Amino acid sequence: MIYLDNNATTQIHPEVLTAMQPWLGEKYGNPSSTHRLGQESRQAVEQARYEVAAMLGCHISEVIFTSGGTEADNAAILGSLAARPGKKIILSSTVEHSAVREPLMALANTGYTIIEIPVDGRGQLNIAALEEHLPNPDVALLTIMWANNETGVMFDIQAIGTLAAKHHVLFHTDAVQAAGKVPVAFASLPVDLLSVSAHKFHGPKGIGALLVKRRTSWQPLLRGGPQERERRGGTENVPAIVGMGAAARRAATNLASPEYTHHIAMLRDRLENGILSRVPDTAVNGDPLHRVANTTNISFTGLEAQAVLMLLSQHDICVSAGAACSSGSLEPSHVLRAMHLAEPRAHGAVRFSLSAFTTAAEVDRVIDILPQFISRLRDVLPAGNSRP
Ligand SMILES: Cc1ncc(COP(=O)(O)O)c(C=O)c1O
Repeated sequence: MIYLDNNATTQIHPEVLTAMQPWLGEKYGNPSSTHRLGQESRQAVEQARYEVAAMLGCHISEVIFTSGGTEADNAAILGSLAARPGKKIILSSTVEHSAVREPLMALANTGYTIIEIPVDGRGQLNIAALEEHLPNPDVALLTIMWANNETGVMFDIQAIGTLAAKHHVLFHTDAVQAAGKVPVAFASLPVDLLSVSAHKFHGPKGIGALLVKRRTSWQPLLRGGPQERERRGGTENVPAIVGMGAAARRAATNLASPEYTHHIAMLRDRLENGILSRVPDTAVNGDPLHRVANTTNISFTGLEAQAVLMLLSQHDICVSAGAACSSGSLEPSHVLRAMHLAEPRAHGAVRFSLSAFTTAAEVDRVIDILPQFISRLRDVLPAGNSRP
């Protein structure tokens, strides 16, 4: 199998699995228990918190473990609003993940005004439009992702956060696709809240963290116990937290060496150039100069991405489409729509996302077989008629 869908999820690193194993077995204590078994779990959770804080450049007291990126995003948004009851405007972007978009849509039905800042054709944020809205004293929160899950495009979080701080607007960033791919130094970033998810950097699923900067006024989403310093009730998921700690330690070490990212970028570029040069009517979507190293979103213009996906899947190659089946028809994703890509290009967008486990041989195999696959598809499914 060739796995190029690492923005969906990554393989758990074998070291992470080994670190988790005892906590799924004999070390089953509740970290809140005062006996030895419980205290072993407490120490393991605190050790993991230390690793996560070291990876993200923050203080240990700023790390709140959550059930993943979705919970971290929801907690960031709802917890910020709860602490600012008078303010009714939320600023966001047109390309956010559903973990941010959907809570915002629900809030729009309860009296909040959601203003989505547009992006340009490369998927970059319109900073001038953001600057227009930031001075409004009714703005409760700005929530803007760091790296886009579909295109890999990175927003200039430093510049956006500096603007937000100038206007005293609270700033949350969904860094789920950035953490593990670019260094994060929360302490020196003009960011108040930041979400991450372990399964995007070779940790387990169902565990993530919300970072809340010290002295930020914010209210917990889940109440029900004193865990996480009364900021997230519920017995800690010890095996997953230990796994996240181990994955964070690996990610921090990897990112400290420039070769790590360089190697992934080199393979991504080899894949991208190979496809562009050998398959006609292809184009890269998203700002090529400001992208995470592992992602390329390529349009096979005139084809339906799902058709490409299914053909690749039959040959054990895993990639993703930038289109989702909604009520029987294939709609290009909101991200590609927000970038105003022409319909035939948006429909044919396929996301390839690599990891440190990706090999040059795998990339070369995809480059070798893709041209014939695409030409076969184009023969049997003439342009505009490729919907499976
Ligand atoms: C940008 C972004 N935010 C949030 C999430 C949700 O994270 P999780 O799967 O841990 O709930 C994802 C997952 O795909 C994502 O890509």
